[in-house]
Amino acid sequence: MEEDWRISDRVLQIKKSAIHEMTRLSKEVEDVAFLSWAKPTSDTPEHIKEAAVAAIKKGLVGGYSENAGLLELRKEIVKKLKRYNHIDADVSQLLVTIGAVEGLSAAIMALVNPGDEVILPSPTYSTHIRQVILASGRPILVPTIEKEGFTLDIDSIRDAVNPKTKAIMYCSPSNPTGAVFSEKNLRQLADIALENNLMVITDEAYEYFTYDGYKIFSIASIPEMKNNVVSCFTFTKSYAMTGWRIGYLHADETLIPQITKAHIPFAICATVVSQYAALAALQGSQDCIKKFREHYLSARDIMCKRLEEISSVFEYQKPRGSYLMFPKILLKEGNDSTVFCKKLLEEVKVSTTPGVAFGPTGEAHLRLSFCVPEEMINKAFDRMEMYFNVEK
Ligand SMILES: Cc1ncc(COP(=O)(O)O)c(C=O)c1O
Repeated sequence: MEEDWRISDRVLQIKKSAIHEMTRLSKEVEDVAFLSWAKPTSDTPEHIKEAAVAAIKKGLVGGYSENAGLLELRKEIVKKLKRYNHIDADVSQLLVTIGAVEGLSAAIMALVNPGDEVILPSPTYSTHIRQVILASGRPILVPTIEKEGFTLDIDSIRDAVNPKTKAIMYCSPSNPTGAVFSEKNLRQLADIALENNLMVITDEAYEYFTYDGYKIFSIASIPEMKNNVVSCFTFTKSYAMTGWRIGYLHADETLIPQITKAHIPFAICATVVSQYAALAALQGSQDCIKKFREHYLSARDIMCKRLEEISSVFEYQKPRGSYLMFPKILLKEGNDSTVFCKKLLEEVKVSTTPGVAFGPTGEAHLRLSFCVPEEMINKAFDRMEMYFNVEK
């Protein structure tokens, strides 16, 4: 196809999203067993919706808020960061954003110069790779250690650092692997950042969804890292609010005005009605998070059991967090995960995401979401067992 002269090189470098492509194709298939999306199936809790309606009725949402977000909301975020993440924050260190992704984009635009390298332990969330490309940076994908549950390969990260390296960016719990990086490894990562004057950009979107006693460790809780971290969080996963597009970032107070310079041209401020909804989310009962977590845990266990029964086709690492997992395809046909996924959709009516969408190290894998009703998991695996002739 001839290149379109109208489009910037930045955008031309970005490939079509495999996740959205699979979603589009899946919509054309009747009675599909859908395991390809990372979005909560539950609706936003009632008290959050009611607070948003009340704010609309009181006439509070018709104008812009402060660029950094409502002060009242930032005060509540300060409390939450202290309570849950052990981050000693101040309102001057916060920027309310349009979901975690806008915070990540604004942070990268503020930190990365053209040609700067950003290390991403991979496979990783494809959006991170694109955000670096959009800022004209170079994503450097450093494989994680799959056999150990996709843990950080600290030695390889250290080896990848060079004078062009500006930052290390990761998500933990991870999309797509479900890994939860350990405190020990993150402290080692912090040492690398401090020794080499690097920024660390974190995406903690799945902070509440960890299992089997694994806990997230927020690298910004290390006092020495004060000047070296931008941490991005979101309400969208924790409170089933993906459509509200609301999140926030934390960084040192001298960085916030600089990141805000990137935030304003894209957003001016985060959507005000969503800020009121987020305020209610933080002030109200946190039981919904517990309920979502319990559901994901039980769905994860069902998916793992079903994967064990089909062990001639897939080998998997048990996810310690998020609601995603990343089994390896053992069959030769799996070497091209895009073809494999399309075939699963067309011939078995099971929708998954090709691993290659998460960087080259993701090839020969599938991403499966267990953020779905349990019947959906069983339906998908019943069909795959039949298709692959698995004997029980
Ligand atoms: C790791 C990760 N970060 C961020 C997001 C998006 O977060 P938000 O809706 O807050 O922009 C996703 C969505 O799938 C994700 O998987």
